[in-house]
Amino acid sequence: MNAVNVDVVIRNASLPDGRRGIDIAVQGERIVDVGPALALRGAREIDAGGDLVAPPFVDAHFHMDATLSYGLPRVNQSGTLLEGIALWGELKPHLTQEALVERALRYCDWAVARGLLAIRTHVDVCDDRLLAVEALLEVKRKVAPYLDMQLVAFPQDGLLRSPTALANLKRAIAMGVDVVGGIPHFERTMADGAESVRILCAFAADQGLRVDMHCDESDDPLSRHIETLASETHRLGLHGRVAGSHLTSMHSMDNYYVSKLLPLMREAGVAAIANPLINITLQGRHDTYPKRRGMTRVPELLAAGIDVAFGHDCVMDPWYSLGSGDMLEVAHMGLHVAQMTGQDAMRACFTAVTDTPARILGLDGYGLAPGCYADLVWLDAASPVEAIRLRAARRMVMRRGQVVSEMPRTGATLHLPGRPAGVDFRL
Ligand code: FE2
Repeated sequence: MNAVNVDVVIRNASLPDGRRGIDIAVQGERIVDVGPALALRGAREIDAGGDLVAPPFVDAHFHMDATLSYGLPRVNQSGTLLEGIALWGELKPHLTQEALVERALRYCDWAVARGLLAIRTHVDVCDDRLLAVEALLEVKRKVAPYLDMQLVAFPQDGLLRSPTALANLKRAIAMGVDVVGGIPHFERTMADGAESVRILCAFAADQGLRVDMHCDESDDPLSRHIETLASETHRLGLHGRVAGSHLTSMHSMDNYYVSKLLPLMREAGVAAIANPLINITLQGRHDTYPKRRGMTRVPELLAAGIDVAFGHDCVMDPWYSLGSGDMLEVAHMGLHVAQMTGQDAMRACFTAVTDTPARILGLDGYGLAPGCYADLVWLDAASPVEAIRLRAARRMVMRRGQVVSEMPRTGATLHLPGRPAGVDFRL
């Protein structure tokens, strides 16, 4: 081994693309070399022991302004979307900037420990005080050294339903919010929904911004705002900068219509963001039996060449009382709901919480190649599929070359005569 030194070398890693026995050399904030048996010596040498080392998890869809507010001012007794919306309305007047910042920072701590280093969060702009916008801009600044936050101006009460929503959305963008949001299926009529999409896409095109709308989060097969979103994206030349979040109505749409819709989305370069934990919980609530799953058509979207990411959406808030920032839990649920149990399909579920959302967010320097930022997560698993199966522990999380979280390997001790002293869930 020659004397060339770098800051860190991670030895004997397995990569998400299937390569094994790979070393990763880090100098400063960047990865400088990746390959087998690198002839470099690190000031710090880390033996990954054949474990999976992946780029960090990315959550393409979250609500940081509501997270960890579970029980405020009361618990969602029915667990339904409508009671959740009512509860959020009850909570909003009582929000304070300090408490909101504190909860969001706490969630970001959880995220880092889970190897989740980039989050796109929607922020409600229908409160004229824009208190949540100010709070999350402050959080974004505070966490910037260790987590990329991207904010979406979200007119939660409807762009046209809420009289001040458009003005507030424009104010939020002027304050530094990154992405234009929307919620066309929540407007009063289908026509208003389509009009809201046109207004918001025109504004985004004028400002040179990305778009990410809550779109067709409904079981109504005639909720077709994704068609308008894709067609406006194409017309305005916003290709690659627009995402439709949820798209649950697609689950219930007529197959012939979808056979025309998917090529339009592909042509427009519109990405889809499914939120499996939330969609499987909230959709199909008006059904008796059979009860629809409600998640969008993930395998068919992927087969059509459309980017699909899985988002967490909610953690311990008015809509969802579970979760802990674990994108492997999200991938696990997505895999099951979409019946993506083939080998390639399971790997695609890992990609849906790493590479694909990174592309949707437009993250700079993401990945495990020379020149990329040294942002990575060492997982207690041998492969992406095993990581999903075990919701594997994050042994180490690195951000810009610095270790920001570590977890020792742990296991249960058995007290069974004639059996081993412990268990290892890895094969
Ligand atoms: Fe959402």
